[in-house]
Amino acid sequence: MSSDEPLILGIETSCDETGIGIVRGRDLLANALASSAPEHARFGGVVPEVASRAHLEAMLPTIDLACSQAGISMSDIDAVAVTAGPGLVGALIVGVASAKAIALGLGIPIYGVNHLAAHVMVDELEHGPLPEPVVGLLVSGGHSSLITVSDGHFEGLGHTLDDAAGEAFDKVARLLGLPFPGGPMIDQAAQSGDRDSIDFPRALRTDPVHAFNFSFSGLKTAVARWVKEQQRAGNTISVPDVAASVQEAIADILTSKAVMAAVAQDAPHLVIAGGVAANSRLRALAAERCAVAGIELRVPSPGLCTDNGAMVAALGSHLVRIGAAPSPVDFPVASTLAVDRVHF
Ligand code: KG4
Ligand code: ZN
Repeated sequence: MSSDEPLILGIETSCDETGIGIVRGRDLLANALASSAPEHARFGGVVPEVASRAHLEAMLPTIDLACSQAGISMSDIDAVAVTAGPGLVGALIVGVASAKAIALGLGIPIYGVNHLAAHVMVDELEHGPLPEPVVGLLVSGGHSSLITVSDGHFEGLGHTLDDAAGEAFDKVARLLGLPFPGGPMIDQAAQSGDRDSIDFPRALRTDPVHAFNFSFSGLKTAVARWVKEQQRAGNTISVPDVAASVQEAIADILTSKAVMAAVAQDAPHLVIAGGVAANSRLRALAAERCAVAGIELRVPSPGLCTDNGAMVAALGSHLVRIGAAPSPVDFPVASTLAVDRVHF
């Protein structure tokens, strides 16, 4: 570790995880997380007001925890980065207000950053500088996009026309009676299932107009219809088989389009990021298909794919490294920030 590189604090509060990360350069020193997921479970989805309050309660203890993990004190921090969007407005406000207070109190620069770009940049902490040009498959609870990163610019190639991949996992899990958040539950149930048992649809597979777009709402409907038909016929439903087949449909369409995008963009590298990138089948299928296509695949460890503070600190560190101007102290929260706006 080079001790002359600035020490960056990252704050993430866009959804239900209060994440505090500390990095120096590309070295991860701390990654503290407090989750309010259990508080949302009985509602089957994140309740914004509950998430905001939980962020407020978790903020200072989680910062303290991160500082002790890193063996630093607050006064050692050189710059603070915080998720400004996209995400839940009330949740974002807690993180942004906290970050502004820290920046003003310590007299250090602040960077209001894009959560989606942060998901991609966290990969640098494990695999070094992001090669360019690179195609990114960004798959989370709220987003499913194909992007390119070239000369530090993020650009959208395509996106989902309806549900995000994570949303599809969560909704199908709910249909199957699995607890929220459903993605990890489907992943787990699928381990003992047969992924070829049910042929669920792969939407927009061959539609040239939507080559880089996705659609997942029909998948959820197809699963609901299939489950109803089986119940009507008096058949027992194998949750592992349904989970494995749905997971296969999602992993298949995501990886085939991502590889196609990398080939079309002449990009020798593909990075997969966001909570759904933690999915074991998506990771395995992507590795297989990238190897066949001669594309180098980069995917962060599962724990860095789901929301965390390290990713925000990683993007902050990148911005400091390239000499980006800090954000003005009155930058807003932006619940619907587009991927090409990396920071304010
Ligand atoms: O990036 P993320 O942590 O939060 C958002 O920015 O939305 O992504 C959360 C999403 C949820 O839909 C969750 O079910 C999904 O990622 N997810 C998974 C897995 N782990 C998390 N989906 C499939 N398999 C997993 N192992
Ligand atoms: Zn996320």
